[in-house]
Amino acid sequence: MHPTWLLLHVFVLDLAQGAALSPRIDNGLAKTPPMGWNTYNHYACSPNETIVKSNAKALVDLGLDKLGYRYVTIDCGWTIPDRLANGSLTWNETIFPTGFYAIGQYIHDLGLLFGVYEDAGIQSCQTDIAQAGSLFHEAEDAARFASWKIDALKSPPPSRFANMTEALAAQDKPVLFQICEWGIDFPALWAPALGNTWRIGNDIIPAWRAIWRTVNQAVPQTSFAGPGQWPDLDMLEVGNDLFTTSEEQTHFSLWAILKSPLVIGGALKDERTSISKESLAILSNKDVIDLNQDSLGRSADLRRRWSEEAYDVWSGPLSGGRTVASLVNWADEARELTLNFPDIGIQFAGQVKDIWAGKTTKDVKTSYTSTVQPHGVMLLELKDTVAGGTYSVKNFAKTDGTTYTFDSIYANTTSSNHTITVHFAKTPSEKTNIKLSTEESKDQQTISVPRSHEIVSSTLSLSAGNGNQIQLDSSIPIDSIQIQSPGGSYYPSTSFTLSGSATLEKCSTGFCKPTGSKLSYLNSTNKATATIHASVPQGTSVSKFVEVDYTNNDVAFSTSWGLGSNSRNITVSVNGGTPVRLDVPLSGKHSELFGPGKGWWDTATLGFLVGVEGWGECGRCRE
Ligand SMILES: *[C@@H]1O[C@H](CO)[C@@H](O)[C@H](O)[C@H]1NC(C)=O
Ligand SMILES: *[C@@H]1O[C@H](CO)[C@@H](O)[C@H](O)[C@H]1NC(C)=O
Ligand SMILES: *[C@@H]1O[C@H](CO)[C@@H](O)[C@H](O)[C@H]1NC(C)=O
Ligand SMILES: *[C@@H]1O[C@H](CO)[C@@H](O)[C@H](O)[C@H]1NC(C)=O
Ligand SMILES: *[C@@H]1O[C@H](CO)[C@@H](O)[C@H](O)[C@H]1NC(C)=O
Ligand SMILES: *[C@@H]1O[C@H](CO)[C@@H](O)[C@H](O)[C@H]1NC(C)=O
Ligand SMILES: *[C@@H]1O[C@H](CO)[C@@H](O)[C@H](O)[C@H]1NC(C)=O
Ligand SMILES: *[C@@H]1O[C@H](CO)[C@@H](O)[C@H](O)[C@H]1NC(C)=O
Repeated sequence: MHPTWLLLHVFVLDLAQGAALSPRIDNGLAKTPPMGWNTYNHYACSPNETIVKSNAKALVDLGLDKLGYRYVTIDCGWTIPDRLANGSLTWNETIFPTGFYAIGQYIHDLGLLFGVYEDAGIQSCQTDIAQAGSLFHEAEDAARFASWKIDALKSPPPSRFANMTEALAAQDKPVLFQICEWGIDFPALWAPALGNTWRIGNDIIPAWRAIWRTVNQAVPQTSFAGPGQWPDLDMLEVGNDLFTTSEEQTHFSLWAILKSPLVIGGALKDERTSISKESLAILSNKDVIDLNQDSLGRSADLRRRWSEEAYDVWSGPLSGGRTVASLVNWADEARELTLNFPDIGIQFAGQVKDIWAGKTTKDVKTSYTSTVQPHGVMLLELKDTVAGGTYSVKNFAKTDGTTYTFDSIYANTTSSNHTITVHFAKTPSEKTNIKLSTEESKDQQTISVPRSHEIVSSTLSLSAGNGNQIQLDSSIPIDSIQIQSPGGSYYPSTSFTLSGSATLEKCSTGFCKPTGSKLSYLNSTNKATATIHASVPQGTSVSKFVEVDYTNNDVAFSTSWGLGSNSRNITVSVNGGTPVRLDVPLSGKHSELFGPGKGWWDTATLGFLVGVEGWGECGRCRE
C-alpha cells in the first residue's frame, strides 16, 4: 500500500506578483538599510534641542556610531503653524533656541548625519498644535532643508512624493528619502521609484503584540527589499523598558533579517534617562547588525509557521553562500525547540553560529535544537551548507565498508512514496543487489543494481520528522544518498463540496490561478470538504504535509492599537480528527483603495502537518 500525502491547494499562488519594481530611485544612498536614532518612540511629537543633542552625543559616547548608527532624525513636533513672512518653513524657537543650522552643525561635528521629518500634506499630523507641511512648497522646502545641510528626510502622505523626490534631487547633496505612508497603498509597488525606504504599516505601539502584527504585514513585502530600497518596519522599541531582554532580542533580530532600517527609538541619554546595559548590548550586537548590513541585501522570508506549537521559522540568503535562520518562540514559556534545516532548504551545515547564545557548533546534521526563552529567538548563521535532501556517507553514515547506517534522515510527510537515489563511489562492474531497511517505518527491500550504473533509485517509506534511519547493505562503496519528498496531489478550490454559507467566488482574470476562484466565508460551521485518497491503516494515525494556497488582506490598520494582528486562522481537520490551525499572515500585494478586491485575490502558500486517522481507504479533508 502506498499512502500519498495530501496537498490542498485551496487557492493558487499567483506567480506574477512579487518582483521588485523598476525604475527605482538612484541617489547612490542606502546600499544597506539605514541606521540611526529618532526622537519619536520615546519623546513622541515633543522633541527639543537638549534631548536631540544629548542623544546624538550618546551615539558617539556609547560607540553606536562606529557600528553604523549615524542618522539623527528629529521627528514630528519641531516646526510651527506658520511659515516665515518670506514663505520659508522654520523651527519652533522655544524648543530649538539655537536653530536648525546650529543643530545640524552640532550633529555633523560629531561625525553623524542629520535627518528631519516633514509632512507632505498641508499640515503635520499627530501634533497637539498645528504645524506647517510641505504641500505646494516642495521645491522651496527642499532648498531650505539643503541649507540646513540635512542628510535625510522622513515624509508621510499624501500622493505627491514625486514632487519631493524631484525637489530633493535638485539639491547639491543627495538626501535619504524615507517614505512614511503607513503601508496604506501597498507602497512596495511604487515607493522604490521615489524613496530609499517605505513604511510597511501603521506605527509600532509600545506593546509586545506589535511585533507579531508587524511581521505578519512584512511577509508579502520581503521580495521587494534590495540595495537602495528597504521596507521599514518602523523604529525600534529596544531600550524603552517595554520588553523583556528576550523580547528585545526577537524584535531586533527580526528587524535586522527583514532588512528594515535599524533606527533606535529609545532614550540613550537625557537628563532623566540612560539606556540599560542589556538593551545597549542588544543594539550593539555586531553579528546581528552584520546580518542587516550584509552586502547581498536580501530579506529573510517566513519559511514555516507552526501555529499550534507557537513558533515561526524565517530564513534568507546572505553573501558568501551563508544563510540566516531564525526560530521565534511566540509562547509565554521557555521551551526546547528544533529548527529542521530542510525547512529552509538545507541538509547539513559545516558551521552553525547561535548568535544570542554566543556558541558555534561544527558539522551539524539536519537540525539544531536549543532552549528558547518566552517570546525569545534562536538566531543562526549557517556556513558551508549542503542542499536539502543530500546525505553524504562522510557526514551522515556509519559504515564498516558494506553496511551503511544513515541517521538524521528528514521527511516532510509520512509516506511510503519517498524516492531514494543511491550514488556509488565506484561504478559496479557487474549486476548486483543492495539491501535497504528503515528503522522507524520498517521498510525492507532489495534493490537490484544493473551493471555500470553509478546511481540507482527506489521508493521508500519514511515518517514525518528528522529521526528516520536508513540502513544499506552494499558490496559497492556508496558515496551519498538523496531523498526526495513524494509529489503531492493538487485539489483546486472547485473540487470542494461546500456546506452552510461557504461560497466559491470568482476572481478577476489573472488572479486565483489556475481556477480563477477561491473559497470564502469559511468557519467551523460553514465548511469546504474534499475527498482525498490517503490510505492509512485503520486505527493508526500519521502526519501528512498539507499545503494551502490562501488569500488574506485583512490589514490591521485601524486596529493597530488594539488587537489587530494582520493574520487569520485556517483550520484543517481530517476524518473528523482534531482540527489543526494555521495562522496565516497577509498575502495581499495590492491596495484595497486603488484596486478593489485585488488584495483578496493575491495568494500565498504555507504548509503544515495534519494528523490523519486511519479510516479505511480514503480520508475526508475539511477546511
Ligand atoms: C508515488 O510518486 C510517483 C511520482 O512522484 C507518482 O507517480 C505515484 O503516483 C505515487 N504513488 C502513489 C501510490 O502515491
Ligand atoms: C526637553 O525634553 C525633555 C524630555 O521630555 C524634558 O525633560 C526637558 O525639560 C526639555 N527641555 C527643554 C529645554 O524643553
Ligand atoms: C513651540 O513649542 C512650545 C512647546 O511645545 C509651545 O508651547 C509653543 O506654542 C510652540 N510655538 C509655536 C509658535 O508654535
Ligand atoms: C527667509 O528668511 C529666513 C530668516 O531670515 C532666511 O533664513 C531664509 O533664507 C529666507 N528664505 C528665503 C527663501 O529667502
Ligand atoms: C507636482 O507639483 C505640480 C505643481 O504644483 C503639480 O501640478 C503636479 O501634479 C505635482 N506632481 C505630482 C506627481 O504630485
Ligand atoms: C516538502 O514538500 C513540498 C511539496 O512537495 C516541497 O516543495 C518541499 O521542498 C518539501 N520540503 C522538504 C524539506 O522536503
Ligand atoms: C459562521 O458564519 C456564520 C455566518 O456566515 C455565522 O452565522 C456563524 O455564527 C459562524 N459560526 C461560527 C462558529 O463562527
Ligand atoms: C487564531 O487562533 C488563536 C488560537 O485560538 C487565537 O489566539 C487567535 O486570536 C486567532 N487569530 C485570529 C486572527 O483570529
